[in-house]
Amino acid sequence: MMQISIVGGGYVGLVTGACFAHLGHYITIIDIDADKVHLINNGQSPIYEIGLEQLIKQHIGSELRASTKFDSIASAEVIFICVGTPQTPNNNIDLSFIKSACSSIGMSLTNNISECCVIIKSTVLPGTTENIIRPEILTSTKKSENEINFIVNPEFLREGKAIEDFMHPDRIIIGNNESYSKYFINELYEKIPAPIIYTDIPTAEMIKYTSNAFLATKISFANEIGNICKHLHINAYDVMKGVGLDHRIGSQFLNAGIGFGGSCFYKDLSALILLAQKNNENPILLQSIIDINTRQPHKLIALLENKIGDVSDKYITLLGLAFKNDTDDIRESRAIPIIRELLQKKAHLAVYDPMAMTNMRQIFPDIKYCNNAIDALTNADGCLVLTEWTEFSKLDTEFDVMKHKVIIAGRKILTCKGVEGICW
Ligand code: UGA
Repeated sequence: MMQISIVGGGYVGLVTGACFAHLGHYITIIDIDADKVHLINNGQSPIYEIGLEQLIKQHIGSELRASTKFDSIASAEVIFICVGTPQTPNNNIDLSFIKSACSSIGMSLTNNISECCVIIKSTVLPGTTENIIRPEILTSTKKSENEINFIVNPEFLREGKAIEDFMHPDRIIIGNNESYSKYFINELYEKIPAPIIYTDIPTAEMIKYTSNAFLATKISFANEIGNICKHLHINAYDVMKGVGLDHRIGSQFLNAGIGFGGSCFYKDLSALILLAQKNNENPILLQSIIDINTRQPHKLIALLENKIGDVSDKYITLLGLAFKNDTDDIRESRAIPIIRELLQKKAHLAVYDPMAMTNMRQIFPDIKYCNNAIDALTNADGCLVLTEWTEFSKLDTEFDVMKHKVIIAGRKILTCKGVEGICW
């Protein structure tokens, strides 16, 4: 079992740490946020993720600990870099967290007496590990180049299913095909039954971007087909059922709706587009994936306006604010452009989400947040469904409290009658 330090106790670092602890490795999670470290050491999860707090509780104080200090790196065999790579205002990726993590890791590595391995899980563009991460660490440490192995091991974790995805991945990508990296990787992942694909470092970096770009492509494709189906009175879900069973296509990620949200697809597509342009390519397909996604929320509002006319001074209910179900995350949630447009059009909004209201309140403090769906629906002129929460699937007579029973679904989750879907 290995001594592992994980730099970055965010969503990826925490899930990775808790899961490796569960597999028997000894983990220190390093994060500069003292409150987060305190919570973890008290057996609590600073983020909501199914099964995560249970794993932290089970292993904290034995296989798992958290710290604001980098001391554990001196005795680590493996150091994971899991810090965020957010988007800059000009759509590039912000490497400031990566750079500061690298200099702290480099300094602490000077005292590490064994050969060790730095594994990059943060999403970084091809070339970043070799041109930025490796030199940043090597200039801050007194160790020689051949005492530190650099490996890129991208994550493919979905929020809400991250533990399941970590323990049962479709594949493990290892960027570094030197034989010594195989020793570390076999030790680390021996209990996880998944094919391991070895590539060079830039290829592994590119696999992450390509995977996210392809998943986003499937969604925008389904939405474009869905928009055509809507005009023809065809249910896009019936079409995709018939299409997805072709094993060359696959049935996942063909759910039409108001488009993709979340912290990764838009950010990664934007960075990939910029990278293509810097290389004198014109990535028209990638750009249109974003364009379709930006258009979808307006289509939902147009459907509502078709039914109830001008929305100004009307009472509109929004069910769902999170970018998807089972999370409180609202980053790039399609609810944000929808709220913005409805407010611009002077509608009165009453909203409900089982988990994401605290986060949304920070962006829109002045709309009405309700404790349950019935409160949000009472006397409404129209309702938009924006997140596929399971509890919404049971709603039926609850809609009777509306003034006018106009229900437009941006996600296919309701099972009651009288609902108009965006693409069905
Ligand atoms: C996504 C990828 O699925 C992960 O593999 C990847 O590791 C992660 O980004 C990342 O790069 O960190 P995540 O953002 O958690 O994971 O969410 P998804 O489950 O992929 O959903 C993204 C968005 O697409 C959601 O808004 C969802 O509602 C929407 N979606 C998904 C659709 O509109 N239709 C679909 O068929 C599927």
